[in-house]
Amino acid sequence: MATSLVRVTGLRKTYQMGRQAVHALDGVDLEMADKSFWAVMGPSGSGKSTLLHLLGGLDRPTSGQIDVGGQSIAVMDENALAAYRRRTIGFVFQSFNLISSLSALDNVAFPMRFARVPRRQRRARAYELLHRVGLGDRIYHKPTELSGGQQQRVAIARALVNDPQLILADEPTGNLDSASGDDILRLLAELNESGRSVLIVTHDARVMGYASHTVQMLDGRIVNSS
Ligand SMILES: Nc1ncnc2c1ncn2[C@@H]1O[C@H](COP(=O)(O)OP(=O)(O)OP(=O)(O)O)[C@@H](O)[C@H]1O
Ligand SMILES: [Mg+2]
Repeated sequence: MATSLVRVTGLRKTYQMGRQAVHALDGVDLEMADKSFWAVMGPSGSGKSTLLHLLGGLDRPTSGQIDVGGQSIAVMDENALAAYRRRTIGFVFQSFNLISSLSALDNVAFPMRFARVPRRQRRARAYELLHRVGLGDRIYHKPTELSGGQQQRVAIARALVNDPQLILADEPTGNLDSASGDDILRLLAELNESGRSVLIVTHDARVMGYASHTVQMLDGRIVNSS
């Protein structure tokens, strides 16, 4: 049995909207093995993005525990949480979130500024990662000069700069045609095969062909796990 990377117990996230309490997560337990590939599915509003944000330390739970690689997120202060996001997690979003004025190379190199990596080294690493995602011939293109699938590849390369153990992707194929979507799923599967854990939130049933584990959510709970 593989060691577990993520352990979540009794996770709740409640948003208070005036008098109404919205239970976005209503008691989630899960254990994700290291080097696994999880797909989280479920209808709109079932809590998928909320779960991903909490796992990534983008937001804090109302209650419950999240341990990732033996670190407990709940007890981290803001600095520790920022370091956790930077070192352990790679985020990929539906809308790519690239900086439109920067080339693919500079978009990938950009987050390394905050890790105080020297410029030469940043560019070398970005160059290597863009090759890795199959964009070696597009490094000076700006986002508007790339297809949707290529933009998502740039975003994935950027997510890899600090060699994260866990890649969290929220609807990464949501804005792509089916061929580009397949390419992105294949790339995430390759990254998983090379030793990273991947958790992807999606409505895209094709992901089940790649995932080692599929979870269904409904009303803030996990209702099915296979
Ligand atoms: N910042 C917030 N304030 C208040 N309610 C929120 C907030 N974020 C999410 N919610 C509510 O929490 C519930 C879960 O939202 P979440 O974004 O996790 O759903 P989802 O499963 O990702 O849906 P989708 O498939 O549409 O992206 C929803 O009912 C939503 O309205
Ligand atoms: Mg969502």
